[in-house]
Amino acid sequence: MARKKLLAGNWKMHKTRAEASEFFQSFTKLLGNVGDVTRSVEVGFGVPPTLFDTCLAKSQGTGVKILAQNCHYETHGAFTGEISVPQLLDAHLQGSIIGHSERRQYYNETNEAVGKKWNVLVKAGLLPIVCVGETRQEREAGKTLDVVKTQIDEALKFVSDEARSKEFVIAYEPVWAIGTGLTATPEQAEDVHKVIRDLLTRTFGEARSSTIKILYGGSMNAANCKDLLSKPNIDGGLVGGASLKPEDFASMVLTAKGLS
Ligand code: PGA
Repeated sequence: MARKKLLAGNWKMHKTRAEASEFFQSFTKLLGNVGDVTRSVEVGFGVPPTLFDTCLAKSQGTGVKILAQNCHYETHGAFTGEISVPQLLDAHLQGSIIGHSERRQYYNETNEAVGKKWNVLVKAGLLPIVCVGETRQEREAGKTLDVVKTQIDEALKFVSDEARSKEFVIAYEPVWAIGTGLTATPEQAEDVHKVIRDLLTRTFGEARSSTIKILYGGSMNAANCKDLLSKPNIDGGLVGGASLKPEDFASMVLTAKGLS
């Protein structure tokens, strides 16, 4: 079954409101009829909370999804600095990146926390983009596939049966490729994506697994995205650096459209 590609920008801790406005002005102009583009390619941006309103206003009516980069799994409470899923809903967001390697590395985000976040997001009708991926040392030690399988399996223990039936996206992001300019080759990425697809098939059955998007992330850019996106199990990208520039990201979205 043909899966619609998804290109999701991850803006991390970048941009002021004025910069976000400027971005959307150029980005939408470069895409031309954005509504037409988003009918064949899904487009989203994970942005900081200070930019939620601006990005929603600027992308209104285009089909572009505005997403958070993190959320808490409790609905409310004494968790200074955190943001809840009901708050994301209230802000009209459509989903959240969870388990990004920077959050795993700097903020001790565990597979258990990722699973709990996944569970509450889908129950609220929001889309989780669940990030997994190995470090350089893990790849060199031949542990890539085990690491990725464990990250998904352990998170899934905290996703209820009901929540498992709801849409989610996996993003395979080798940690050594993030922000380094070292992209996994299309073959290296496809090998891992195929293993993730097989794991999803064992867990959810063939029919469902064939509908689940698996994104690649890690130094994806306008020059290398076509080869990556042409692989059978690479259904899109989670894009950091190259999503900050409207020209680069628009070109990537149009490349994905050309492949759809
Ligand atoms: P990068 O980041 O494209 O800058 O490597 C990807 C990510 O962290 O999601």
